[in-house]
Amino acid sequence: MKRIVLIVSAGLLLVVIGCVLYASRMIHRGFSTRTEPMQMEKALATAIRGRAIPSRYKTMKNPVATTPEVIHEGMAHWADHCTACHANNGRGDTMYGRAMYPRPPDMRQRDSQEMSDGELYYTIKNGVRLSGMPAFGDPGDEDVDSWKLVVFIRHLPQLTGAEETEMQRLNPKSPDEIQEEKEEEDFLKGDTKSATPATKMHHH
Ligand code: HEC
Repeated sequence: MKRIVLIVSAGLLLVVIGCVLYASRMIHRGFSTRTEPMQMEKALATAIRGRAIPSRYKTMKNPVATTPEVIHEGMAHWADHCTACHANNGRGDTMYGRAMYPRPPDMRQRDSQEMSDGELYYTIKNGVRLSGMPAFGDPGDEDVDSWKLVVFIRHLPQLTGAEETEMQRLNPKSPDEIQEEKEEEDFLKGDTKSATPATKMHHH
């Protein structure tokens, strides 16, 4: 009996020492998003995230059918709300994406594509705590827009160059870019006020 108590306490002591060492290493390395976290931290966080998705979502099928219109609607929504971090093509190598940890994954790849419809839907609606992934849409189920985004995420691996070009036009623009585009349009319409003197000279 005494021996068992001794072995169990020794085991507990080792676990405690391990935790303290791990925590001190984490503190020492810092919480910056610039450095890659330790493999164990990454694996643990991903496993916990997967388990935290309620089981009824895991088997949920997308109630929205995949049609060209739905893909297009999802694409427009993605181009407007998701591109800043995930990029139009879903690779995630954007200015924000590269600077945050966890980094947005390349969603064309297996890890994301192997998530079930319901898991993708749940992630979009609830976000991912301690990551840059925000929660979108209203709480409650039957969020058609989020299901359309799931349809588009499934389409990402087949995204064409033409679709990507179209998305660039749908991406949010700064006031400067809007002004620039308006000037360009006016110029093309032949509004001489915005034409440069050099161009005007050709009219003589
Ligand atoms: C501010 C940055 C940001 C924005 C905007 C954003 N995401 Fe994310 N997203 C992330 C990050 C970071 C992760 C990775 C989280 C993790 O690793 O646990 C992520 C993960 C995901 C995942 C899980 C993929 C996987 O393989 O783990 C889905 C699905 C997703 N995002 C969908 C979307 C959709 C759809 C939108 C737009 C409506 C969007 N995200 C907008 C940052 C963002």
